[in-house]
Amino acid sequence: MEGPVLWIKDLKVWYRIYGGFLKVIDGIEMKVLLGERVGLVGETGCGKTTTMKAALHLLPPNGKVPNGQIFLDGKDISRISKSELRKIRNSGIAMIFQDPTSALNPVFTVGEQLIEAIANGKEGKSSRQENLKDAVSILEKVLMPDPQRIMRNFPFQLSGGMRQRVCIAMALSRAKKLLIADEPTTSLDVTIQAQILDLIQKIVVENNLSLILITHSLGIARQMTDRIYVMYAGTIVETAPTSVFYEEPLHPYTKGLFDSVPRLTGEGFADGIPGRIPNYLNPPLGCRFQPRCGKSLPICSQKRPPLLEISKDHWVSCFLYEGKGGGK
Ligand SMILES: Nc1ncnc2c1ncn2[C@@H]1O[C@H](COP(=O)(O)OP(=O)(O)OP(=O)(O)O)[C@@H](O)[C@H]1O
Ligand SMILES: [Mg+2]
Repeated sequence: MEGPVLWIKDLKVWYRIYGGFLKVIDGIEMKVLLGERVGLVGETGCGKTTTMKAALHLLPPNGKVPNGQIFLDGKDISRISKSELRKIRNSGIAMIFQDPTSALNPVFTVGEQLIEAIANGKEGKSSRQENLKDAVSILEKVLMPDPQRIMRNFPFQLSGGMRQRVCIAMALSRAKKLLIADEPTTSLDVTIQAQILDLIQKIVVENNLSLILITHSLGIARQMTDRIYVMYAGTIVETAPTSVFYEEPLHPYTKGLFDSVPRLTGEGFADGIPGRIPNYLNPPLGCRFQPRCGKSLPICSQKRPPLLEISKDHWVSCFLYEGKGGGK
């Protein structure tokens, strides 16, 4: 069997701030197989973007990785040189960033940026004419209206939905193996959201790409993925094949997420999860969810819960399930 396209092993990420380190990511494990579509869910600030940026060596200068390994196609890219890394980024993986405005350079036209991305994605030399043709064709693929005109525009001349499409086009021109889509539809109106998600889905399936889809929406994750990872305060608390996950969520945090989904049945607002994500300067010693958990045991505040396999490929990190599955 083929190995994973991306394997994140015991990853920790800290941010240096005035007064110390924010210990945000605390030992994450994640595997993405070839052609597998993975959803990463969890509430705001739990470290989803940080995890992906760390995997691609894109952390800001105050970000630090005190522990962990990242394997891309079996190759350890945790400690490779900048030039080697650029080669890898240009050939196999691409990311659609949460904020498309910051991912585009305001002083270059869409065409110039797209052509550069396409040239970088090619192995040998390529002619500008050829890259220009490819740029227009990829804009057509992302259903961009009037691609010829858009090529001459600067990012600020486009609507939010168009900018997002440019980012997706740029990412798709680079993605040969793995596409990371970080909330690709945030702040777009629902009709555009559906189109963009359909498009990503179509291209991922057609090209047998692996996908990591970061989303707040349990509904979108259910539609678009084969496996779900639930993240809480920099830890993976549960992972399972998508169908199993929605049938039988186990972790108290996951159950809370389901309870937080606004109800459409006229029962009023959802209960949600009381409390908030812990302070990363001084996070809880044991389970990071313990201070908010209605089911916590005395041990939960003292020890990190192990990851337990409750049924095939369904893992949960919670003492409530100890003795009910294998350990890791
Ligand atoms: N450059 C930085 N310096 C200091 N802290 C940071 C930095 N970037 C992120 N953080 C902190 O790290 C934590 C995780 O942030 P991250 O953006 O990874 O969360 P997220 O899960 O992607 O959230 P969202 O769903 O809102 O996008 C947050 O507490 C955030 O404030
Ligand atoms: Mg984010």
